[in-house]
Amino acid sequence: MTSERHLIGLLLGTEEDWPRAFEEIVRRLGPVPGAGGTQHVLDCERITIEPFWLRDRPRYNLVIDRLAYWYYHPREWLKKVALMDGVYLLNSPFTFQSMEKHAAYCAMMRLGLKVPDTVLVPYKNPLDNARYAYTAAKYNRPFDLDAIAEQIGYPLFMKPYDGGAWRGVSRISNAAELHAAYDQSGEMLMHLQKAIDYDVFARSLSIGAETMVMRFQPEQPMHLRYAVDHAFLSPDAGAEVLTIGRLVNAFFRWEFNSCETLVKGGEVYPIDYANACPDVALTSLHYYFPWAMKALVRWCIFALVSGRRPRLDLALDAYFEIADNASTCYSEKLAAYRELADGYFESDRYHDFCATNLPHLDEIVLDWVGGPDFDHLLIETVRSVYPAHEHDQFIAHLRGLLGMWVSDESTRLQAA
Ligand SMILES: Nc1ncnc2c1ncn2[C@@H]1O[C@H](COP(=O)(O)OP(=O)(O)OP(=O)(O)O)[C@@H](O)[C@H]1O
Ligand SMILES: [Mg+2]
Repeated sequence: MTSERHLIGLLLGTEEDWPRAFEEIVRRLGPVPGAGGTQHVLDCERITIEPFWLRDRPRYNLVIDRLAYWYYHPREWLKKVALMDGVYLLNSPFTFQSMEKHAAYCAMMRLGLKVPDTVLVPYKNPLDNARYAYTAAKYNRPFDLDAIAEQIGYPLFMKPYDGGAWRGVSRISNAAELHAAYDQSGEMLMHLQKAIDYDVFARSLSIGAETMVMRFQPEQPMHLRYAVDHAFLSPDAGAEVLTIGRLVNAFFRWEFNSCETLVKGGEVYPIDYANACPDVALTSLHYYFPWAMKALVRWCIFALVSGRRPRLDLALDAYFEIADNASTCYSEKLAAYRELADGYFESDRYHDFCATNLPHLDEIVLDWVGGPDFDHLLIETVRSVYPAHEHDQFIAHLRGLLGMWVSDESTRLQAA
């Protein structure tokens, strides 16, 4: 019997929870059978940062990156291993240029999605550049901020074009708030966006060909933002949210991303879908954490064992062709996008692979989450995230939610 070894590199910042979970699941899973009787042995390793020769061959076959969005030395290493060595990346830094919200808004508007009306206004303060004063005096046209806001209509949101973590986001109800927020924006580049008065907020997390659509409560503290609710959307709205997430990801070649949509009546409005370094912390995902870890393990193994090739090229024309087809309506376009996106993610082949090659993963993870090792991880994570006087409260909170997952998952597996 032949065997093949694959090394998965984890490029990490401060997090310990999900990497430990990922490493543990891969360890418990053991070798994975592949085509022709080959056994695939998977190892994980945390990547360290050190000088690298550009012609060196990396040891890694696949890298999950949670660091390069702010740390540029490993980002340049990722570019090198993508271009020179064919390493499979979640996600490729070549997609980062679109990781600000702005490019994603443009792309999804171009495809006919219901992105709320959005305007990009010039910087409030002069930029720190010797050429700025001359250039601005000559070419910056005066504009009427109030008129733009009135045309969009109050309330509206002002938020950075490349935002994240609520930095610089404000909800604006009148002209005084508008000017105060713009004055404060300083050297941040800001969008004004029509506010949607939504019924529910759906946040979907996609990992390769899998997507979890979750009810999100942005007004709550972090640990309560994801609500456990399996039926908060109509089947149609649920399918649309799922399709939008898949579409965005296939379009930009993101394989690990979260997507925010606001749902009002039957309408689905995407507002933020460029989070290609998504939060998968145990403390925020809680009930959904085991799913996320399984999906990440499944997708990495599928990519490695089935020989899926990383694709850096963007096949934009195929999407634009659907968008430009005047004889199809919105729902027909969505169906066509979905087919393209599922094709990109090889959904059918992926699900067959999981059923055939990873049949015991569900039981392995259920056994682990229900046991003492996971409880250890939970306790250590709470201790590293919260102050001492909150430990008991958060340990109980997470144990309750994960206990509920164990019970639901046992029922699901027994029924299957
Ligand atoms: N057009 C909108 N209509 C209604 N609410 C909005 C709109 N845009 C933003 N919001 C609200 O503001 C929050 C933050 O906005 P947004 O997601 O665009 O910023 P962010 O900095 O990326 O935040 P996060 O990191 O939480 O995703 C959203 O979760 C939502 O509650
Ligand atoms: Mg957001």
